[in-house]
Parts: sequence; C-alpha cells; structure tokens
Amino acid sequence: MGLNTTALNKLQVFKGEHFLKTCDFSAEELNTLIDFTGELKEKKKRGIPHPYLKGKNLALLFEKPSTRTRSAFSVAAYDLGAYPEYFGQGDIHLGVKESTADTAKVLGRMYDGIEFRGYHQKDIESLAKNANVPVWNGLTNEWHPTQMIADFFTLKENWGTLEGKTLTYVGDARNNVAHDLLITGAILGVNVHIAAPKSLQPDEAIQKLAKDYAAQSQSEILITDDVNQAIYQTDAIYTDVWLSMGEDQSVLETRINELLPYQVNESMLLNTMNPEAIVLHCLPAFHDLNTEVGQQIYEKYGLSEMEITDDVFQGEHSVIFDQAENRLHSIKAIMSVTLGDIF
Ligand code: CP
Repeated sequence: MGLNTTALNKLQVFKGEHFLKTCDFSAEELNTLIDFTGELKEKKKRGIPHPYLKGKNLALLFEKPSTRTRSAFSVAAYDLGAYPEYFGQGDIHLGVKESTADTAKVLGRMYDGIEFRGYHQKDIESLAKNANVPVWNGLTNEWHPTQMIADFFTLKENWGTLEGKTLTYVGDARNNVAHDLLITGAILGVNVHIAAPKSLQPDEAIQKLAKDYAAQSQSEILITDDVNQAIYQTDAIYTDVWLSMGEDQSVLETRINELLPYQVNESMLLNTMNPEAIVLHCLPAFHDLNTEVGQQIYEKYGLSEMEITDDVFQGEHSVIFDQAENRLHSIKAIMSVTLGDIF
C-alpha cells in the first residue's frame, strides 16, 4: 500500500513547516493529514515498515507531565526510524538560565525536529522562529493541535465522514481542548455544539473566530448552557477534566457544583436520542476512585465520578481508548509530512 500522487502532492505543503496550531492550515490540508493518519495506522497494523524519518534526531521538550503525548512522540519516532531524546522540566536551561530563542538556536543545530509541551504559545512560536527545524506543539495553554488531528481522525474513522456531523463538547469550555475543538471543527465543517455554564464558556475571541470559520465551511456553532439542547441528536459527546493542569484547587468545589449538570452519564446519552452517538475524552479522566486525586476528591466532596461516569467511560459508546491510540498515528503523520521523506 502507498500514497497516490494526488495525496502526496497535497501533503507536500507541510514539508519543512511547523505544526503549532490547526488554524495555520486549511480544511483541505487538515483533511489530508487526517487521512494520512489512517494510512499510517493501517501500515502499523499490517507490519509494513514506514521509516520516513530514518536517522533523524528529535528533541522532545516537556515542561508539563504527559502520558499519551510523550508516548506517542517516542513510539512514533522509533517507528519512523528516528532517535527521540526526552527533556523533562528542569533538565535543560530553557526559560531559567537560557532564553527560548537561544535554546532553539542550539537545539536546531543538533536536532532535526523539536516537540514542545509547555505553558505559553509565545514560547513555542519563539522556538519555531529560531530553531530552523520543524517544531511541533505537544500542548500549550492555548492549543492542543496534535490532539485535534487524533480526535478528528477518530471521529472520521467512526462516522465514515465529517460532513454534516455534529460534535458536542460538554463541561469546562474555556480550556485549550474545548477552544481547539471549536476552531478545528469549524474549519473542517463539523457542527460544533458547546454546553457549559455561562461562566465556563469559550473566550469571546475564540467564539468569534469559530463563527467566522463556520461561515466559510457552512457548519453550525451552538454555544449554550442548555445541555439538552446542545446534545439533542448529536453524533458525538466530548468532555474533559473539570480542573485543568495548573488551575487552583480552591475553585474545585464551585466547579463541581457548576458542572455536575454537565456530567457525561447514561441519562445524557439517552437524551441525545441518537443510539449511534459516540463518546470521547482526551484523558486523563476522573471516572472512578483508582487515582490519588480521585480518592482525595471523594474524601472531600463525596463524588466518586466527575466529568464522566464509569459506566459510560467503559461502555459501548466510548471510543476513548481508540482516541488515545490515535495520538500515535496522528503524531506520526504530523512528523512525517513536516520532516520526513515521504515524497
Ligand atoms: N491528552 C493528552 O494530552 O494526554 P497526556 O497529558 O497524557 O499527554
């Protein structure tokens, strides 16, 4: 199996580019990346070698903890024939004794590509400006673009198409994942509904940008605190944690009270009136008491499940672990088209 010439030509646009946020790309470009993700998933499944990054050295910079993103970048690198080097918080001088620009210049002289997971989009923009090699965003406070390619690929592999479909995000909608789903969905022509209390709805600027993209792609944006209106006949429900990385724990009690009506549970699934609706979560999730944090929340607030109930998390509508696996294939696609020898 291999890519046909038309698909290869479409992927050419990514060569040498950074991958910092999805809105740097067109719907067509994102779609080719989503389809290439499927191709690489199939290759991996069939054991077909795909060493597009043979001999390349990759720097993986993580200022924040990670299970999926770190694993996906590492395994993708090995599958593609590259050598990944992991740098955790405090391992290098970045931002403490050395500026992002200087670090970028040094790493760019030694490595062929750089992944960055950190706090500020401006930091990754500075890395990209100064490194002279492709830079990939493994998450910032603002965006989570590698997650988006995995998520929209997961939707497409389940739905068969993105056209005319509706994705509903419920919960705290001011975080990077909710913002990115809104923007990326609107670019791709997916109807995006957001159900969140008024105080936890997406930033005004993001709402406006999403509406502009939706006008171009002729998709629908709905942002409401009425969860039943948002989920009615939706094709997918997506949720995320109620307290994001770095947020102050003291707001948790208020957050729980605000967000309990938005918990993804059996009753919400029934209210979609769509027996085919699927459920996504970017993980990690608080769906049981098998974590330290889950236990602490239970002891303090008596809540054994938060944003999603365990029966739905484990249930037949959940595609959450396919979605997690797809982080590998999508990150592999992103690294291959920007740095690899696929052409
Ligand atoms: N979804 C996600 O980014 O997972 P990690 O924090 O484990 O990388």
